[in-house]
Amino acid sequence: MARVLVTRRLPEGGTDPLLAAGLDIVERDDDTPYEHGELVAESPHVDALVCLLTDRIDAEVLEAGRSGRLRVVGNVAVGYDNVDVVAARALGVAVCNTPGVLDETTADAAFLLILAASRCATEAERDLRAGSWHGWGINQYLGHDVHGATLGLVGYGRIGRAVGRRAAGFGMQVLHHTRRQTGMPGYVASLDELLARADVVSLHVPLTDDTRHLIGPRQLALMRPTSVLVNTARGPVVDEEALADALHEGRIFAAGIDVYEREPAVHPRLLTAPRAVLLPHIGSASRETRTQMARVACRGVCDVLAGRRPDNLVSV
Ligand code: DGY
Repeated sequence: MARVLVTRRLPEGGTDPLLAAGLDIVERDDDTPYEHGELVAESPHVDALVCLLTDRIDAEVLEAGRSGRLRVVGNVAVGYDNVDVVAARALGVAVCNTPGVLDETTADAAFLLILAASRCATEAERDLRAGSWHGWGINQYLGHDVHGATLGLVGYGRIGRAVGRRAAGFGMQVLHHTRRQTGMPGYVASLDELLARADVVSLHVPLTDDTRHLIGPRQLALMRPTSVLVNTARGPVVDEEALADALHEGRIFAAGIDVYEREPAVHPRLLTAPRAVLLPHIGSASRETRTQMARVACRGVCDVLAGRRPDNLVSV
């Protein structure tokens, strides 16, 4: 019987496809993460890994797995920068992810950050909880209007477009930038131009060598002192130190951040930066969506093990 190592406890019902396929699930009794060395040691003894974005599935794990029976990795995330896909392809290990099921939930989270950062919600709530709000004041917590503002989407895949649909309901003008011309209304060929024109910039690109530090000191300098930056994509797309500097120096107005360069660490100066709304990577965190993500990853694994080509195949 094929054996599937599930590296962490998945939401209830998440492993249903594995159970329905009669696969043997290997998992810990508790939710302790597998150390990298443990993954290297375990991977030759299983046919599949179902892992999370916090598991580093690098060449060492894949080579060890391939020396045994490993055939497929199901990553319970749409982003798969934690998996060395080049090594997987070279070794003939299939990789699946979870496209489609988290778009709307992640777009909701991006919009939550757009609103919270633009309207100084974190700062205002913190004062209230600390007992330092002494009544309504006409000049308190003055943010910037979201309705009618210009939204600049960097990346225009499924999640970016879902954010754009929400923005339309707020009467925002929606611009988007991708490297390839989309032929759709609002396309801006130059990232620099988009950064200069947008009141709110929201990032929706995968992490690749090309997008690492896509937003650094030069790009932040193109934004306006009234602008807001939102990142629900991957932390290293933004140079966190440069962002902290820009916020501390008032060169941009606010930031809404869900992902970090060195998770779970957060740059200390970002933690103290004014008008930074900081969430702990919860973009896709609804019960429904996380369950769907687990099932999609597991279904991909089942397909590969049964000799079928899954819809969510990242690489063969
Ligand atoms: C993903 O799927 O890549 C998300 O970051 C998970 O929340």
